[in-house]
Amino acid sequence: MKHLFIRKSIAQLHEEVAGDNRLRRALGPVQLTSLGIGCIIGAGIFVVTGQAAHDKAGPAIMLSFVVAGLACVFAALCYAEFASMVPVAGSAYTYAYATLGELAAWIIGWDLLLEYTIASSAVAHGWSQYCQEFFGTFLPRLPLALARTPFDYNPALGRFMATGSVLDLPAMLVTAALTVILVRGIRESARFNTVMVIIKLAVVLFVIGVGAFYVDPANWHPFAPYGYSGLSVFGKTIHGLTGAGGEPLGMLAGSAIIFFAYIGFDSVSTQAEEARNPSRDIPIGILASLIVCTILYIAVAAVLTGMIPYDQINIDAPVADAFRQKGLPWAHFIISGGAVVGITSVLLVLMLSQPRVMLAMARDGLVPPGFFGAVHPRFRTPWLSQIVMGCFVAAMAGFLPLRILAELVNIGTLLAFAVVCAAVLVLRKTHPHARRPFRVKFVPLVPLLGIGSALLLMFSLPKENWWRLFIWLLAGFVIYFLYGRRHSQLRSSLQEPALPGEEQDRPAGS
Ligand code: ALA
Repeated sequence: MKHLFIRKSIAQLHEEVAGDNRLRRALGPVQLTSLGIGCIIGAGIFVVTGQAAHDKAGPAIMLSFVVAGLACVFAALCYAEFASMVPVAGSAYTYAYATLGELAAWIIGWDLLLEYTIASSAVAHGWSQYCQEFFGTFLPRLPLALARTPFDYNPALGRFMATGSVLDLPAMLVTAALTVILVRGIRESARFNTVMVIIKLAVVLFVIGVGAFYVDPANWHPFAPYGYSGLSVFGKTIHGLTGAGGEPLGMLAGSAIIFFAYIGFDSVSTQAEEARNPSRDIPIGILASLIVCTILYIAVAAVLTGMIPYDQINIDAPVADAFRQKGLPWAHFIISGGAVVGITSVLLVLMLSQPRVMLAMARDGLVPPGFFGAVHPRFRTPWLSQIVMGCFVAAMAGFLPLRILAELVNIGTLLAFAVVCAAVLVLRKTHPHARRPFRVKFVPLVPLLGIGSALLLMFSLPKENWWRLFIWLLAGFVIYFLYGRRHSQLRSSLQEPALPGEEQDRPAGS
């Protein structure tokens, strides 16, 4: 039993990245913030906002963004404290290993692998829709057979229906292209990302600035047509309205879905090993990118629901379509082009993050290191797991609809948030004197609010998400007990680790 809770020392983490197999330290605070924004603003605001406003929350989607943003701020502060203490690849996985022990680390690492893969697939869909909108303005449309996934959920009927299509070809192609770029290296990827982030921010500001002139405040009434609630327990609604398929409706249910738009700020921490000054720059990158995005999201949600009555918002490319409905084809053209570029940067960072969690797990022997820990001799990237991930993402993006994928992503990310917040509390108790270049204020209040808000949003998700989480975690346990536990690098050493700054605080000989 004791092995399950074995923890990794920070000194060990630093040693691991000192050898030849380490990644290149190329990123400063601006690049990290840009990677954060690059990963946050994407299919969430450009696509899922429309779905959430239309299906779940109405104009109250603005409040949904506030609630989801608050949950993220609490978690972001906790991530920042950890990232400043443990500036190596792996994000929440590594933090859990250093604090809660191997089993918790495995659970969270396993959870993150799925999150990043599903999130990438969902984002590839958003990319495909906007790409088709953009080229559709001046070229013939792609044949239906290649334009969508073969089936989708119909919220009015509460069931899945065939779309008449075979696969989403553009989503598969963009995944393949980005896999090639990512295998070639982080420096090139970061530069590519910065350009895309500038274009994306310009388009979002354009939507807010131009769209504001077309807002009709009458569209904000009723403000919360589905109510302010949407709370359910394991998918069973306990407060609020229920949709045709039994799913929770309301402002909170909207938050649980729109939380998708915030996913990504945590991925800044997965790049800690490639940061030039991780203790300072990673917290800056996480918090700055989150704050910028929260403000922009609330503004875009206000403009979108103010321009178009919530029940007439288009589901596939809602932001661009709102301008088309207002008779502004040139704006539709600019926005769909900008969204394609913006969503590309999200996909880039999400696809970049997953192999780095894998790399951390491979270094610990929890997944086969020969394959998942392999760093390319020339490009210094975890290329093999990058390619495997690319294949999974392409397959899911080609065949599974965005409505399923976007919802499935959220629950696992929320679980990771809750664990990171809990780990901050644990570490403050077990290692009170460890060096913390960035400290969360008002502990235990902030981590407790982080845990509470993550659980609240998890409980506002439809039940399929709980099933997915449960099945995935079960598979994870089986793999851990059959492979990870036996190959764990840490099993031979069971002494309590010390964190930097603690050694001198301990009495001699202790
Ligand atoms: N937050 C990311 C997006 O909205 C996943 O695309």
